[in-house]
Amino acid sequence: MKKIFVTGGAGFIGSAFIRLVLDETSDVEIIDFDALTYAGNLDNLVGLDENRHKFIHGDIRNREAVLNALPDDCDAIFNFAAESHVDRSIHSADEFLTTNIIGTQVLLDAARAKNIRRFVQVSTDEVMGTLPEDDTAFFNEDSPIQPNSPYAASKASAELVVRAARETFGIDAVITRCGNNYGPRQFPEKLIPLMIANAMNDEPLPVYGDGKNVRDWIYVEDHARAIWMVYEKGKSGEAYNIGARNERQNLEVVTSILDSLGKPHSLIKYVTDRLGHDRRYAIDATKVENEIGWKTQTTWEEGLAKTIRWYQENQDWVERIRNGAYRDYYKKHYGMEVGTV
Ligand code: NAD
Ligand code: TYD
Repeated sequence: MKKIFVTGGAGFIGSAFIRLVLDETSDVEIIDFDALTYAGNLDNLVGLDENRHKFIHGDIRNREAVLNALPDDCDAIFNFAAESHVDRSIHSADEFLTTNIIGTQVLLDAARAKNIRRFVQVSTDEVMGTLPEDDTAFFNEDSPIQPNSPYAASKASAELVVRAARETFGIDAVITRCGNNYGPRQFPEKLIPLMIANAMNDEPLPVYGDGKNVRDWIYVEDHARAIWMVYEKGKSGEAYNIGARNERQNLEVVTSILDSLGKPHSLIKYVTDRLGHDRRYAIDATKVENEIGWKTQTTWEEGLAKTIRWYQENQDWVERIRNGAYRDYYKKHYGMEVGTV
């Protein structure tokens, strides 16, 4: 059995990654280390093979806890743990800087102390800032690092501490930079699950600015598979951009959701734009396709249909969140109560 240490495995992408690895391998055991912040959810781990998945509640900023949880014979660390929502980073950057940067450094130190073979840093395309609209420019691995939000700045800084650990101490490290994910179990503060949840409840769908910002959407399972393949085949010291060549304006995403659910477009409510709102993300995935042999497997139409179906069939999962601390965030951020029609 090969052991891997996954941080942030109770979150959206980490749990999809764990599910994929357990389903598609038979010789991998996972230690899942997660602080269970507002975004971490043990419901995301229900039904996993208990012989190959062990959950440990802990914070990546806590050096002792990390060292205690990380086995000596572990092959790799996959660092998914992060504060991940841009809007929250605009309200306060504190947790973003400590978890995303210092937490990453603690994990790198632990990897060195325990001689872990490989470190996989799950980063984001947002470290590369924004692209002009109506342009043929894409993010590639040579694009400058020029983050625009506190979230993106913290993730860019995390990439830099990973780089420094490699240059200084020879840590074997690879970085993945993916575009916007969607799929089951995404916390309903992010665009797609927020819009699905509100539309299902006939509540307003808050669209920032003119709704014409562009994101490059990828189904979460495709991202998870790319991370696994980069771990297996990626070259130490390299970054790999991951994207499904699926650029969409926000308004197109929102109207597709409304149409799928048979709800009127009049539910769209234009609200004040996000500060520093990046206009366009678009990823050139040539490197991961050619060097690693990864390809997206899920079309936008299939992925969105599967996602909507999951939220329809798991309304209790959504409602448990909507009835919790989420209510306070929603009121502070949108100036209206969850459930306001
Ligand atoms: P998420 O917010 O759904 O989950 C984050 C998880 O990390 C949660 O389970 C949370 O409890 C855990 N966590 C937070 N702080 C922690 C700490 N200090 N110690 C231990 N665990 C902690 O996020 P996600 O969307 O699943 O994103 C996972 C990773 O992928 C993040 O690193 C994010 O930057 C990156 N990423 C996300 C996207 C996207 O579209 N969501 C795209 C590209 C990259
Ligand atoms: P989000 O899911 O927060 O991801 P990111 O900011 O990391 O790309 O937002 C995706 C896009 O949707 C982004 O352009 C902001 C926009 N958006 C809205 O228009 N309204 C909302 O309520 C939210 C949360 C996002």
